[in-house]
Amino acid sequence: MLNFPAKHVFPDTTTINDKGHLVIGGCNVTDLASKYGTPLYIIDEDTVRNRCTSFRVAFKELYPDSQIIYGSKAFANLAITKIIVDEKLGLDVVSGGELALASAGGAPSKNIYFHGNNKSRQELTEAVSLGIGRIIIDSFYEIDLLEEIGYQTNKTQDVLIRVSPAVDPHTHSYISTGILDSKFGFAIGTGDAALAVKKVTSSPHLNLMGLHCHIGSQLFELDPYKKAIRVAIKFASDMRDKGLTLYEFSPGGGFGIAYTKDDSPPSITEFASAITSEVLSTCEDLKLEHPKLLIEPGRSIIGPAGVAAYTTGARKVISGIRTYLSVDGGMGDNIRPALYQASYEAVVANKMKTTSSDKVTIAGKYCESGDILINDVNLAPTEPGDIIAIPATGAYCIPMSSNYNMSPRPCVVLVKDGSSRVIRRRETYEDLMAFDVI
Ligand code: LLP
Repeated sequence: MLNFPAKHVFPDTTTINDKGHLVIGGCNVTDLASKYGTPLYIIDEDTVRNRCTSFRVAFKELYPDSQIIYGSKAFANLAITKIIVDEKLGLDVVSGGELALASAGGAPSKNIYFHGNNKSRQELTEAVSLGIGRIIIDSFYEIDLLEEIGYQTNKTQDVLIRVSPAVDPHTHSYISTGILDSKFGFAIGTGDAALAVKKVTSSPHLNLMGLHCHIGSQLFELDPYKKAIRVAIKFASDMRDKGLTLYEFSPGGGFGIAYTKDDSPPSITEFASAITSEVLSTCEDLKLEHPKLLIEPGRSIIGPAGVAAYTTGARKVISGIRTYLSVDGGMGDNIRPALYQASYEAVVANKMKTTSSDKVTIAGKYCESGDILINDVNLAPTEPGDIIAIPATGAYCIPMSSNYNMSPRPCVVLVKDGSSRVIRRRETYEDLMAFDVI
């Protein structure tokens, strides 16, 4: 029996070779681990490009006036930015750092969209000076700051207002953003959103282009999108005589991906169909012209393209209770299991044709009992030095990584057609001490 229960959570190019080794982008994962060391993050270029194309095509077919914008927080990296730009996607950034990276990666300023609930004066000044496409306003404080910056620089900035529609997207509470009790956006229900429209439309340096409402991340249901779209567009219609023309509308990103063999999120086409049909029908009902549609996938572009490779080390058997199999990474490079109780699959990359008869809990190497990557997973029996591969790790692992326990962050390689190249080098001990001052 092949130890491959969840092929659909691996990158598109994944195969198993004659030796029973896992192969991604034509590269043997076991060889990549020896060449670059572990922990190693492997990103499959074809999967990234395929997913960019799928989003672009799915939305364009149903709604020609649409633009896909990559949520770069999912994995902000220069080489990835170049691919995203090459695929004609825009970039959503949430900090001065992500803005600098998007720019350095070649993203045209007009295709950059800046989000965040507390952008600083400096960040906003950088954005206005660069002439970025849109700033998505999230607070009254930000309206004042932007107005001041516009006055000082004598520039007019195109903006969207982020509204909060009070819709529960049924995901982990830490990544739910469109409910009333959220730090993000102007609540429609409290009247704040209407006040924000009034303030922005009366500002001489802000040009209101439309509305944004991202309701959460890793969503598996279509209904919350539909509800949020209806509430936001109804609000736009109510604001027509207050000076709001909905030239553009963004329901954000948040499209769920499969992490485990039991996950079956809607396809990109299903997300596209639900969103576009709701926008079209709501606009028709309210007699509004169709806005340009902005879609912001992050995880669903890069997540499925990534596989993390670790080397096995210590094994601790607690008879009748549990077997801990420790690997050389953990919560430092993937905080998601500890932070969101996220589940993952794992395979032994050098034993893909061996029966998975060994039930283990994969533990990280960090000095925390909560540093568990996967609870109770069936693997091929391992010895120290085997390579464990965890799929669906392209998003929110490296960007949320830390140097906890003075651990260097892993190397990231991009694979394609049998070749591999480093797109983020492994950190060194010198890197770890570089910012300390005696
Ligand atoms: N647009 C906005 C305004 C966002 O805040 C986000 C994500 C996205 C788009 C992209 O969402 P995505 O398509 O990637 O779900 N660290 C968490 C996810 C945080 C998402 C933050 N905002 C995780 O590891 O699950």
